[in-house]
Amino acid sequence: MTTTTLSVIGVGYLGAVHAASMAELGHEVIGLDIDAERVAALQAGIPPFHEPGFADILARGLATGRLRFTTDYADLAGAEVHFLGLGTPQRADGFGADLSHLETAVDALAEVLPSRSGAPTLVVGKSTVPAGTARLLGERLAHLEGVQLVWNPEFLREGFAVQDTLDPDRLVYGVHDREDAAAEQAIAMLDGVYARILENQPPRLVMGYEAAELVKTSANAFLATKISFINAVSEMCEVTGADVTDVARAVGMDDRIGAKFLRAGVGFGGGCLPKDLRAFIASAEEHGVGEALGFLREVDAINDRRRGRVVELARELLGDLHGRRVTVLGAAFKPDSDDVRDSPALDVATRLRAAGAEVTVTDPEGLENARPRMDGLAELEPDLDTALQGAELTVLLTEWSQYRELDPARAGALVTAPRMIDGRNVLDPQQWRAAGWTLRSLGRADALPAPRPGATDRPETGEPEARQPGTDEP
Ligand code: UDX
Repeated sequence: MTTTTLSVIGVGYLGAVHAASMAELGHEVIGLDIDAERVAALQAGIPPFHEPGFADILARGLATGRLRFTTDYADLAGAEVHFLGLGTPQRADGFGADLSHLETAVDALAEVLPSRSGAPTLVVGKSTVPAGTARLLGERLAHLEGVQLVWNPEFLREGFAVQDTLDPDRLVYGVHDREDAAAEQAIAMLDGVYARILENQPPRLVMGYEAAELVKTSANAFLATKISFINAVSEMCEVTGADVTDVARAVGMDDRIGAKFLRAGVGFGGGCLPKDLRAFIASAEEHGVGEALGFLREVDAINDRRRGRVVELARELLGDLHGRRVTVLGAAFKPDSDDVRDSPALDVATRLRAAGAEVTVTDPEGLENARPRMDGLAELEPDLDTALQGAELTVLLTEWSQYRELDPARAGALVTAPRMIDGRNVLDPQQWRAAGWTLRSLGRADALPAPRPGATDRPETGEPEARQPGTDEP
């Protein structure tokens, strides 16, 4: 394998993992970010986020001297390949993606590229962007001779970021024109960078820029749709007396559908799915085909509704929430992550607080990141047992293994009242009820509201569940 000198511009989650992974492949890598603190931390070998395996490859890259970090674009001039790993956050004025970080970076890069005159240079976009972005960014580089842009979306999942980067299930290369000789040269250069990854023979698909951009946005939108679909079904389950985990298990056995991303619960969050879904909707509207993706607004609304449903359930269990002690298990948007961006757990905690509850949030990794957002809204308690003490209601919203494996008898001895909302359908209802807990879930029959006196409109099927022995139901 030949060693390539490359840069990664923007060393957030995606960029930092990409930079260290490329050094792991044997390349000379320089990561750039305008955030001097982040650059200093990375250069000191301190991972700015929790990601399995990342600390090791960061340390190895630094130790071998193959990996370094800078804030100065001038340091990038010698690199043959430049990866763009910048964020595309949701715009403050609507659903669309804010492309300003990418635009600024490409302009700054364009300033230093001419000093490599003659030799071909490759710019590779990795960020998730609306269709049409690569072509626009390409125009900003068009005045530079020998510079080619390829759009190569990244599909990594947090928690598996290193593995997904070094052993991806597919590689997608978007080029400006497949027939063009320059594009062929660009593809060959990128193949050279990924030579060791290609040894595992992942499918490598070459297509136009817009298709490559759409692969990423539609993949994320599809995943979000799958989650909201099962969550919509879970609303039906709650009113009909069905258990959504039974439905999902059997539906997922059809391999045309597949079992993954059918876990019903409080829904999706994180730095990608919610904002990418909205950016996709906005992009369709800008292109005049908003109706085509109109259903994605409902996907977003279903996701929001599940968060509200947790608060409703809390009210059903406690009545007025003012002054009531509620402990939320989870702050990160998913387990094995310290990322709290658009975290359903923190959103629900905020809503519970707005309804008057005294909220304590616990999480093994996410509390530091939760602090700025939850300041004055919730007590942040790293110790699980301490967090449970005094709780009148416990709400499980991020399925960390320590919460999935919580012993109901032990937890029951700590709380003030054994009431649990399982927002991820990970607890065994029988086991918890047998230990004396009132357990409500999202999408299971037991989540039916308690019968109102004189109410005749409730389906028969839900009643026996709601009246199980061992619960403190009226
Ligand atoms: C996602 C995509 O999976 C990845 O391909 C893309 O590159 C970036 O966005 P990530 O944000 O790391 O990755 O999280 P993911 O594991 O996909 O989970 C997203 C959210 O959906 C989490 O909040 C998770 O709890 C939720 N989820 C996932 C469900 O509610 N149910 C499921 O069945 C699966």
